[in-house]
Amino acid sequence: MTLSGITRQASEMKDLTKVDRIGAHSHIRGLGLDEFLQPKKISEGMVGQMNARRAAGLIMQMIKESKIYGRAVLIAGEPGTGKTAIATALFKSLGRRTPFTIISGSEIFSLEISKSEALMQAFRKSIAVKIKEETEIIEGEVVEITIDRPANGTGNKTGKLTMKTTDMETIYDLGQKMIDSLTKEKIGAGDVIIIDKSSGKITKIGRSFTRARDYDAMGPQTKFVQCPSGELQKRKEVTHTVSLHEIDVINSRTQGFLALFSGDTGEIKAEVRQQINEKVSEWREEGKAEIVPGVLFIDEVHMLDIECFSFLNRALESPLAPILIVASNRGITKIRGTNYESPHGMPLDLLDRMIIISTVPYTEDEISYILKIRCEEEDVKFTEEAFILLARVAAEKSLRYAMQLITTANVVHLKRKSKEEAIDVGVIKRVYSLFLDVHRSSQHLEEYQAQYLFHQTVNNDVEMKS
Ligand SMILES: Nc1ncnc2c1ncn2[C@@H]1O[C@H](COP(=O)(O)OP(=O)(O)O)[C@@H](O)[C@H]1O
Ligand SMILES: [Mg+2]
Repeated sequence: MTLSGITRQASEMKDLTKVDRIGAHSHIRGLGLDEFLQPKKISEGMVGQMNARRAAGLIMQMIKESKIYGRAVLIAGEPGTGKTAIATALFKSLGRRTPFTIISGSEIFSLEISKSEALMQAFRKSIAVKIKEETEIIEGEVVEITIDRPANGTGNKTGKLTMKTTDMETIYDLGQKMIDSLTKEKIGAGDVIIIDKSSGKITKIGRSFTRARDYDAMGPQTKFVQCPSGELQKRKEVTHTVSLHEIDVINSRTQGFLALFSGDTGEIKAEVRQQINEKVSEWREEGKAEIVPGVLFIDEVHMLDIECFSFLNRALESPLAPILIVASNRGITKIRGTNYESPHGMPLDLLDRMIIISTVPYTEDEISYILKIRCEEEDVKFTEEAFILLARVAAEKSLRYAMQLITTANVVHLKRKSKEEAIDVGVIKRVYSLFLDVHRSSQHLEEYQAQYLFHQTVNNDVEMKS
């Protein structure tokens, strides 16, 4: 295991970008706190739930100052009171530098690996290792690229790349791989670029000012930069951030980091992890690496069973533990895998380690604001009357149900090809009758229970009620 091996594979991996879709929490951009960490009533997509947000703000501060690790926080409250929303907000507020892993309690049962392995992987995804490395780079302005096509039309291309700084000019030989990267990054004469000598990675910094005149037809997104001065080849210190899990995978499999994409990482041997822990602490002592504990968020934690809970108890004591945040909407209920009842469906010894943030139901005003934000997020407009009806549905049925109506109403509205931009009351009534909320659906079940299979009336999984 070498430093540069890990950083090379990790940086290749990070080149892939993720797509952002409009999801249930896509309107949330942060906790919405002011400089004194006090929540503003409506900010960054968050509305109300002031106490819980204030508490989350304190946790955020402690995480940022790296004051706590191996601690646990429980967010408890009824369904739909914003527990997942607050965790998402914390994730956004912390920014990308803090590793943050989000899993749902039930997820770990569906993988092809054991429950404790799945939890262990989640733990190690939440701890980042910042590796400092000196690399050789070539930084300068491209003067000319010439590519010689092989005479018979097949085989590898070769070519020459001329680069300059304000002080010197050099010609480099190009192989097939470099030619491909240059084409992929659309590099041409006049671009200022950096080539990482060890990995061959090319980064375009911008266009040289000296070329600004020739290209007035270029878009406003073009960034102009000075032609660099001094030597073309330089040494530069770069930091790469990788998670412990990524290091585990890179070192445990022949196919290396590719397994991270397929998710087919299999069980990682305890010895491999042990070796990695030792190596990482060695690097840390030598000042080559820094460990950044992040956050592991387990939503719907009541879905875990007693074995998972005891794993969590133990894992929190390891010196390489992240901060664990869990959410539960259960009141006093059975811990899975046992016959014991306990608050939030979690064993008392684990609860005892936790600090608890509780969320409370929203007022009608708050509900109405959240709906408004959702309408903006989904780019859907309602008439005033229709919006009032929607808010009433949210207050009487549930916030989540009303949010579903926004999306479905929009589909119906677009289908009707109405000339009006705003959706009217009729459409809401239509989708309200098409899709049942939980309350009406259970009423329906009670009326027609005899016709359904496997009907039973006992329900021993109680959700929290205020
Ligand atoms: N305070 C809030 N501000 C903005 N949106 C919220 C707020 N609380 C909840 N939401 C939104 O309402 C919906 C339900 O909340 P959610 O966080 O899923 O509830 P829970 O996890 O407690 O069951 C989600 O789409 C969420 O983004
Ligand atoms: Mg939730």
